Amino acid sequence: SEIYRAGASGARPRVPTGWPALVSAAERAMSPDAWAYVAGSAGRESTAEANYDAFDSWRIVPRMLRDVSSRDLSVELFGRRHPTPIIACPVGVLELVDPDADLAIARAAGSLGITSVVSSQASIPLERIAEADAGPRWFQLYWAGDDELVASFVSRAEASGAEAIVVTLDTGMLGWRPRDLDRGFLPFIQGMGIAQYTSDPVFRRLVAERMARPATGPRPRVTPAAVRTLLAMTRRYPGAFRGNLRSGEPRVAVETFLDVFSRPSLTWADLPFLRERTRLPILLKGIQHPDDARRALDAGVDGVVVSTHGGRQVDGAVGAIDALPGVVEAVAGRAPVILDSGVRGGADVVRALALGATAVGVGRAWVYGLAIDGEQGARSVLANLVAETDLVLGLAGLRSVAELDRDAVVRL
Ligand code: FNR
Repeated sequence: SEIYRAGASGARPRVPTGWPALVSAAERAMSPDAWAYVAGSAGRESTAEANYDAFDSWRIVPRMLRDVSSRDLSVELFGRRHPTPIIACPVGVLELVDPDADLAIARAAGSLGITSVVSSQASIPLERIAEADAGPRWFQLYWAGDDELVASFVSRAEASGAEAIVVTLDTGMLGWRPRDLDRGFLPFIQGMGIAQYTSDPVFRRLVAERMARPATGPRPRVTPAAVRTLLAMTRRYPGAFRGNLRSGEPRVAVETFLDVFSRPSLTWADLPFLRERTRLPILLKGIQHPDDARRALDAGVDGVVVSTHGGRQVDGAVGAIDALPGVVEAVAGRAPVILDSGVRGGADVVRALALGATAVGVGRAWVYGLAIDGEQGARSVLANLVAETDLVLGLAGLRSVAELDRDAVVRL
């Protein structure tokens, strides 16, 4: 109705309301490097396509003549009533798109009562995001290679008011992403998205320890490009380094980050370490197999996120929505199941909820809005998604998320 009202005075929405137009406008608004990073996926990008295509094999069967004049989109998650079933997924390295991206999404989502998940690879330290006091936040954890760093991240998340810890399991190593590889994995080489690390006392100690070790191997060549990168990094993270470019500290910080940002050796046996360190709800993100969902609950976690990381990790994987029914069956109502990957509009949200998701996450969609019109753009994308979900729900003859069940969809 906001759009109709503005339209009556001749204004058109700045952010397109449908997916193809949103994608083209976002591509126009982003640098080629940023576009490659955000839009790209793993391998030949077949999982990203499967995420989208799989939604289309589930069709909604609308029901008629039910009073749908008032509707309720709210859902309950970890003791908080959320006004909508939508979550803003964690997206890292967004300084490529906008230096204030992490604050912008916290505010945009918060203004709609939507929880945003702060990435381990956000470009703004989580304490600064917390200061914006924008709305409910969860913290997304990449399980670092160093136990103390993991513990430090978790206690910082708690101290800064995060309401849950989302452990992303599908990124023990970065996926094979040709669009990024062909650009030399620019953001990571330039140390973007490491603000959570450079602002962390344990990480800084790890960097200092490495600096103190005698250098081995050939001295890196100080090319003009390397100097530009280091200068950019000291500007990007003021205070994080002594600022002495000759000392090579920023470069050592990037190397340390690349070494510790995740732990490919992680197993189920490591989960108690986290469980013992926090009373916050723990969600495991990246679950696709029903047996993993069962093990997660046996390990004492509080929820799972069915996700393919937007198709950015395993090429050739099952579309996320196709993995959902098996996980929902395995979880059997014992914990919330959140779905993300491939959500483009309200009909996707409705289908995921019908198949048993408790809530639904979106990633690229809000990033596209952000690229087009900053905080307001991210807000528009989320607000449009809520409005479209509400409309599809009502037009399908349903009054609330609670009324949505498997009966609302058929598989083609
Ligand atoms: C991500 N995703 C992600 N996930 C995570 O746990 N930590 C992170 O730092 C990131 N970073 C990130 C960057 C970019 C550019 C994208 C596109 C995605 C994955 C994200 O949380 C989510 O799972 C997907 O984005 C969902 O798929 P859609 O909505 O993009 O199709």
